[in-house]
Amino acid sequence: SPLSLCVIAGDGIGREVVPAACRVLARLRPDIGMIEAEAGWDTFQRVGQALPDATLATARACGAVLFGAVSSPSHRVDGYRSPIVALRRALDTHANLRPVRPLGGIGRPDVDLLIVRENTEDLYIGEERSDGDTAEAIKRITRHASERVGRVAARLAAGRGGRLTIVHKANILPLTDGLFRDSVRAAASGWPALTLDECLVDTAALRLVQHPEHFDVLVAPNLYGDILSDLAAAHAGGLGLAASLNLGEQCAIAEPVHGSAPDIAGRGIANPAATFASLALLLRHHWRDADSASRLDAAIDHVLAQGIRTPDLGGDASCEQVTRAVCDAVLAS
Ligand code: NAI
Ligand code: MG
Repeated sequence: SPLSLCVIAGDGIGREVVPAACRVLARLRPDIGMIEAEAGWDTFQRVGQALPDATLATARACGAVLFGAVSSPSHRVDGYRSPIVALRRALDTHANLRPVRPLGGIGRPDVDLLIVRENTEDLYIGEERSDGDTAEAIKRITRHASERVGRVAARLAAGRGGRLTIVHKANILPLTDGLFRDSVRAAASGWPALTLDECLVDTAALRLVQHPEHFDVLVAPNLYGDILSDLAAAHAGGLGLAASLNLGEQCAIAEPVHGSAPDIAGRGIANPAATFASLALLLRHHWRDADSASRLDAAIDHVLAQGIRTPDLGGDASCEQVTRAVCDAVLAS
């Protein structure tokens, strides 16, 4: 059956960068159908659901989603639940891929690493309790989730530099982080050619700041992966370029790391590059179209290197100008 993409622009600059990415995809893969669906804060205010049932149904039917960004209320609002968190859960996208590498001569030229973050459990299950004076949160680690993220990380590491670093804190948390480490090790034994090592999370943070060039693929439980991937993104041009893919066995959600950026929304200056690069991850890892992914990556690289950059990167180009240049570069490739 033909491939289709569920397109969720969301709020704020999501509505600028996602349509831009759809234009690029139409150039690269005109065979892929695109179906728009709504989610986010605006949607919640209109229909009372941040992730309407119809959107979830479309996302499930397509199996592939491009998600822009949504705004979330700064105060607690009854009935509001983060649509992206719900979507990741519903589509069981258990691994979060966050590459950090130089694009268009921006950022450190010697860094090329990939953080694979477990995306379903750890402290993010939201099981907290408090009696007012003592508060606790449950950190849940399972063999099942750790092994399957370990398999993804090992496969990706085997496909590139061949080195995988397990990040944990098993000296303090031998049961939870110990289970994560041992499960990833077991999963990685299926790839005997891999160089496997491990690193305590605090040491990993220091080394990611001082010697990021020493890393290839890192695999981490949810919380450590969240923090370390934002930290590492600082080496590669910041939020305007940071891409991610939520990858499951059946489904995937491509998603720029940034939010809805209300401070610049509606001005036509949002950087679409992070969304383009997220789309490239979807092409490469979900649709297994390495050729289109490489063409897209090369086009982004080429346009940024030419100095066609939005203000967040010190340039004066608009979202439209960057998009048009990337479309042209894709066609020329
Ligand atoms: P943000 O990522 O939206 O913006 C942080 C800063 O980076 C702002 O100055 C913004 O202008 C700039 N920026 C972000 N993306 C950019 C781009 N593509 N081009 C140029 N500049 C860019 O984070 P912030 O301000 O903390 O949150 C704003 C809203 O977004 C909040 O409602 C928050 O809850 C939501 N948010 C949503 C996320 C998601 O949908 N996955 C992730 C993070 C925040
Ligand atoms: Mg984060």
